[in-house]
Amino acid sequence: MPKLFEKTAIKSLELRNRSVRSATWSGVGDREGFVTDRGVEFYRELAAGGMGLIVTGFQYVMPNGVAMRYQVGNYDDAQIEGLRRLCDAVHSEDCRVVAQIAHTGAKANPDLFPKEGDVWGPSAVTDPLSGRTPKEMSPGEISQLVQAYAAAAERSKKAGFDGVQLHGAHGYGINQFLSGAANRRGDRYGGDIRSRYRFLGEVLEAVRAVVGKDFPVLIKLSGNDFAQGGLTPEESLYVGRRLSAEGIDAIEVSGGSRASENGMIPSRLKIRRQEDEAYLADLAARFKEMVSVPIITVGGIRSPKVISRILDEGKADYAAMCRPFIREPHLIRRWEAGDLKKATCISCNQCFDAALEGNGVYCKVDKKLKEKKRP
Ligand SMILES: Cc1cc2nc3c(=O)[nH]c(=O)nc-3n(C[C@H](O)[C@H](O)[C@H](O)COP(=O)(O)O)c2cc1C
Ligand code: SF4
Repeated sequence: MPKLFEKTAIKSLELRNRSVRSATWSGVGDREGFVTDRGVEFYRELAAGGMGLIVTGFQYVMPNGVAMRYQVGNYDDAQIEGLRRLCDAVHSEDCRVVAQIAHTGAKANPDLFPKEGDVWGPSAVTDPLSGRTPKEMSPGEISQLVQAYAAAAERSKKAGFDGVQLHGAHGYGINQFLSGAANRRGDRYGGDIRSRYRFLGEVLEAVRAVVGKDFPVLIKLSGNDFAQGGLTPEESLYVGRRLSAEGIDAIEVSGGSRASENGMIPSRLKIRRQEDEAYLADLAARFKEMVSVPIITVGGIRSPKVISRILDEGKADYAAMCRPFIREPHLIRRWEAGDLKKATCISCNQCFDAALEGNGVYCKVDKKLKEKKRP
């Protein structure tokens, strides 16, 4: 499996191989979003596992952008110290780390806001899961949010991150602006995909202005919302081309949200056979044909064989995984040592509940098995 273990680089970001730990909300922030001591150790243990790059769980860039309990925040300079400790821990294991920055828009949970605030969305469209209707953002609030992304990127650079990744997937803030279902605005931020792209274009421009041209800026982008009226592959490819032309450094192609139809959620269930694996690789390949920047594929990747095929066929440049690293943080080391059995994760999604405990996400299945074995 030589290609997976090739040394590569995304701009200035030198990577020891082509494996990426995809962003994973890990429940390691406190009530205000500060990184906990346990969080620092969590990332140190993870980084020892041999992956080329870690993308952190989504960090909220404004107090009213938090969606999940124990999510890490990146909205206040006082948070830099904890973020720096996290970076130092990863670097001490010779691994690289990129901060995923996000505002969860209409999916934000006001019960978790560290300060008073409204739930914001591009339009006052009721969120299908939470049942909440956000306040339609004014142009002034849009500018405020654009600047909040830039400030978070600047903080990330100061903290020692090797890059940032904009979260443009899974039905959260940026994805809401891109989606025709969530964005019904009548002004210059709404309308066809050119106009719905405007917000993301402004975010990228503002981020680039503060971090400089050499600092890696990546995006995780939904290549398809798999939802009625949502972002289509053709629209997303248009977004990919614009981003590539306007200075993005890599695109991780994901898709779907918790509201997607027919089980097409980002973390799909029951990945059992090789044919079930890498369920978004063909979508990634469409981006690979259209844009010149590195493409990362994510979604159901479990076997070294499947990774080799994707890399050899040129469908993507990097293979990202999330749940396999929850069950086996040292998966890459295992494969490197010659044990090429597929990841043991059974794609059941019980780890979402584990992250809610606030002590670092872990595999519930593995824990139950170990408890059974104990005398
Ligand atoms: C517990 C958990 C937390 C997640 N948190 C994030 C996140 O913070 N940001 C993100 O972009 N995706 C997040 N995801 C989605 C994963 O990054 C990934 O896209 C998805 O699980 C498919 O990859 P996999 O089959 O390798 O798990 C999360 C998934 C899980 C299971
Ligand atoms: S609980 Fe464990 S086996 Fe189930 S999806 Fe999460 S990591 Fe995989």
